[in-house]
Amino acid sequence: MKTASPFLELEAAPARATVWFDGEPLDLPQGANLAAALLAAGVAVFRHTPASGAPRGPFCLMGACFDCLVEIDGVVRQACMLEVEDGLRVTRPHEAEDSGAPV
Ligand code: FES
Repeated sequence: MKTASPFLELEAAPARATVWFDGEPLDLPQGANLAAALLAAGVAVFRHTPASGAPRGPFCLMGACFDCLVEIDGVVRQACMLEVEDGLRVTRPHEAEDSGAPV
């Protein structure tokens, strides 16, 4: 889900990369911090908590809170510890399992 974002990109014309978030293509700055780039693109909810289903998004942006967890190639990782690379396919962790869809 994309929303209006209060975050802005700092560089005027950085090289671009296509990143897929939950099946939606996003045009992000190549090499940027993945969590920050997703926030700037309007992605606010990165995951839902397993217990209550409450939405979570990046909070600390330094690897401490784990609220930025996403799934890339079947591995759950902290988005704030990754850089934008062209062709990344990012999903919200474990959401395919929760929906009953084949994993
Ligand atoms: S935003 Fe806190 S660990 Fe990534």
